[in-house]
Amino acid sequence: MNNKIPVDKINGKFAGKDVVSLDQFDTRSLEKLFRRTEEIIKLSRKNKERKILAGKIIILLFFEPSSRTFASFSAAIKRMGAGTIEYQNPLQTSSAVKGETLEDSVKTFETYSDLIVMRHPEIGAAKKASKAVLIPVINAGDGGGEHPTQIFMDLFTIREKFGRLDSLIGVIAGDPLHSRVLRSFIAGLALYKNNTIYILSPKKLRLEPEFIDKYRKQGIKLVEIESEKDIPKNANFWYWNRVQKERFKNPLEYKKVIGKFILTPELLKERGNKDMIILNCLPRVEEIDVKVDSDPRAVYFTSQIKNGLYTRMALLSLILGK
Ligand code: NCD
Repeated sequence: MNNKIPVDKINGKFAGKDVVSLDQFDTRSLEKLFRRTEEIIKLSRKNKERKILAGKIIILLFFEPSSRTFASFSAAIKRMGAGTIEYQNPLQTSSAVKGETLEDSVKTFETYSDLIVMRHPEIGAAKKASKAVLIPVINAGDGGGEHPTQIFMDLFTIREKFGRLDSLIGVIAGDPLHSRVLRSFIAGLALYKNNTIYILSPKKLRLEPEFIDKYRKQGIKLVEIESEKDIPKNANFWYWNRVQKERFKNPLEYKKVIGKFILTPELLKERGNKDMIILNCLPRVEEIDVKVDSDPRAVYFTSQIKNGLYTRMALLSLILGK
């Protein structure tokens, strides 16, 4: 088992560290992760990734539903020769059901494993868990807080297409208020220079002004828009996500905002351009018309998803690798 170095920032060195927030990162650290991802892709083509994590055991502790994040972590771990202990729904299958605290649970798992990947409905839960143990904790989504590993694949996908992560124009749509993905995404792109993001959402789902101010101060240009007519025609990417149903206390409020902005072939024709890409972190509910899926600019079922596996392999290998 690795002993964790008690430093929050990554500063280009991942070994033994937690990854709970994009705020731990700088561009040097992200670039290191992306270069490692490129290496992992090459190694995987030759089946040479199989022993990178040999002998390690990693716990997947998912208190919230997950398809891709859970499966891609599980696959990433096994492809590199490590084993997993997997809890989907620990509130029914672990001692959490008997009232065990999160801290006590992770302290126990620490005894058996080298790293914990955790998803939890509470903002800050991954940080809380990381404070309770000496092994690294990776945040796989903490409520409406953050989802750093989703952003690694998103940024890698954009970098793969445009060869850079600065001087980009993007549109994000959906539910910025509740979406941990969109929050982490803004935090990630704000690390690079000269980026502009148009944020399309109903007024009620806008980000808090403090959040907007924090990242504007870092230099990213954030433009809040409420109509598709305000989408710039020269965007490099559209990141179009669902409204986060599970974060609404009142289902009627959800009903009022669902279906407001739907990405259709017609909208693409009107406001898109030929060089852009279309991302969605999935699951897709109804925010993107299925007719868009076959458009070559849509990468959500192709490179974006594949890069989820490779960026997670890269991250695990940097944290636990020899
Ligand atoms: C996201 C999540 O769980 O935050 N899914 C994912 O990990 N790709 C987004 C979502 O559920 O909308």
